[in-house]
Amino acid sequence: MQDRNLIGSEWISGSGEEIDVTNPATNEKIASVPNGGAAEARRAVTAATEALPEWRSRTAFDRGKILRRIANLMLERQEPLAELMTREQGKPLAEARGEIAYAASFIDWAAEEGKRLDGELLPASAENKRILVMRQPVGVTACITPWNFPSAMIARKLGPALACGCTMVVKPAEQTPLSAIALAEIALEAGLPPGVMNVVTGDAAAIGEELFSNPAVRKVSFTGSTEVGKILIKQSAQNVTRLSLELGGHAPFLVFDDADVKAAVAGAMASKYRNMGQTCVCPNRFYVQQGIYDEFVAGLTAAVEALRIGSGLEEGIEVGPLIDDPAIEKVERHVSDALEKGGKLRTGGKRAKVEGMADRFYMPTIVEDFTPDMTMACEETFGPVSPLRRFRHEDEAVEWANDSPYGLASYFYTRDASRLMRVAERLEYGIVGANDGTPSTAQAPFGGVKQSGIGREGGRYVMHEYTEIKYVSWGL
Ligand code: SIN
Repeated sequence: MQDRNLIGSEWISGSGEEIDVTNPATNEKIASVPNGGAAEARRAVTAATEALPEWRSRTAFDRGKILRRIANLMLERQEPLAELMTREQGKPLAEARGEIAYAASFIDWAAEEGKRLDGELLPASAENKRILVMRQPVGVTACITPWNFPSAMIARKLGPALACGCTMVVKPAEQTPLSAIALAEIALEAGLPPGVMNVVTGDAAAIGEELFSNPAVRKVSFTGSTEVGKILIKQSAQNVTRLSLELGGHAPFLVFDDADVKAAVAGAMASKYRNMGQTCVCPNRFYVQQGIYDEFVAGLTAAVEALRIGSGLEEGIEVGPLIDDPAIEKVERHVSDALEKGGKLRTGGKRAKVEGMADRFYMPTIVEDFTPDMTMACEETFGPVSPLRRFRHEDEAVEWANDSPYGLASYFYTRDASRLMRVAERLEYGIVGANDGTPSTAQAPFGGVKQSGIGREGGRYVMHEYTEIKYVSWGL
C-alpha cells in the first residue's frame, strides 16, 4: 500500500523528512510517511483549486456514483482496512471493522444526499421580480482530523464535501496517517478525479497555518480538542475562512431510579469503554440515583472486570493500548488526583501488564464518590475510567449534568416517558442518548454546543456546512 502524500494525481515524498508510524501496542514501527509542511499544503491547495471547476460542474448523480463506489470498496476491503487501523491506532479489531462500516456509511449517505440539494423560488415585493435561492459548493475545503477515529472522522467530512461539489485537502493525525492514505488510494481507484481529494501528512501547525493563510481555502473542518479549536478560530480570522468544529466533550451519564438497570449498564459499557474511552462523546461523569445506585455499580463492575485486555489484533480483545505515553500518563494523573481527593477505587486504577506488549495498557477503572473539585470531573480523561456519584432527585442531576463548559454528548436512562422528554429538553448538549449509549449514526446531526464546537456533521444538516446560499433577484 501507499505511504506517500497524494497531491493531484501524484504520490509525493515532499522534502524527504519522514515521521514514523508506530503500533501503540508494541512500539513496533509499521511505516514512515512524509513530514509535510506549508509547501506540501500549498501544493495540495493548488491541486484542489485546479480540480474544482470540473468537479463542481458535474451532476450530483455523477458525483454520487463515484462516492458510492468508494463506500463499496471500503466495505469490500473492510478486513485489511480494519487491520491497518488496529495496527496504527490500537483499537480492537471488532471496533476497527465497525469503524470502517461507520466511515463508509457517511460516504454512502452523502452520495444520496447530494442529489437533494435544492433551492427555492420566493415571491418578491415587486410584481416584476422573483427571488431565486440556490445552494452552491463552498469551493476548496480542508479537514484536520484526529487519531481516535482515523477513518470515520475523515469520511464524515470528505463524503459531504465531495457530494456538494467541493474539493478537499485532508490533514490526518500524525499518529494515524495510514488509514487516510488507504482511503485516498481507494478514492482514486473508484474513479475520483485527481485533485478532488488530496492528503498531506506531517506538521500540524505548519500545514494548518498554510490552510488558513491561503485565500483559496474557503472552509476548514476540524475534529479535535477545544484548545486547538480556539487557536483555529483565531487563525480563521485572516481570510474569514468558514469553520466546522467538533471539539472536546465531558459527557454526563444519568441513571434514574426508574431505569432498566441492565440496559443502563450495557449502554454505559458501549459508550464508555469503546476505543479505551478515547472518544469525545464518551461519558466522563456518571450520576446515579440513590435507589438504584448499588445495583448499577454492581452490574457495571462485573461488566468492567470481564473485559479482555490485550493486543487489538487478537480476536475477542475488548481493551487495547492507549494511543501514546502522554495519554496513559494523563489517565494516571486523573485517577491519582481523584483518589487523593477522597474518591474510592472500585476496580482497576493501574496499568495492565500484557505479555510481550508495550507498557501502555490501562485497566478499565471505576472510581466512586467523585466530587466537582477533581480533575476528572471537569477535564476529559480520554481513558477507560468511569467516575460515579449518587444523586437524590431529577433537578439535582440535570443541574450537575449541565454544569460544564462543554456540550457535546449526554446520556440518561429512564422508563418514564414524561421524564424522558423533560430531561432531553433540559440537557444543554447537542447530542442526547435517551436510553441509548451509542447514538452516533450517519443520518443524525452530530455536534456540540458551548465549547464543544460549531456546526453539525451527518444527515442533511452537514450539507449546509459545504454549501453557500446565493440569491438571484430576478427582474422579469
Ligand atoms: C468522536 O469521538 O470524536 C466521534 C465519536 C463518534 O462519531 O461516535
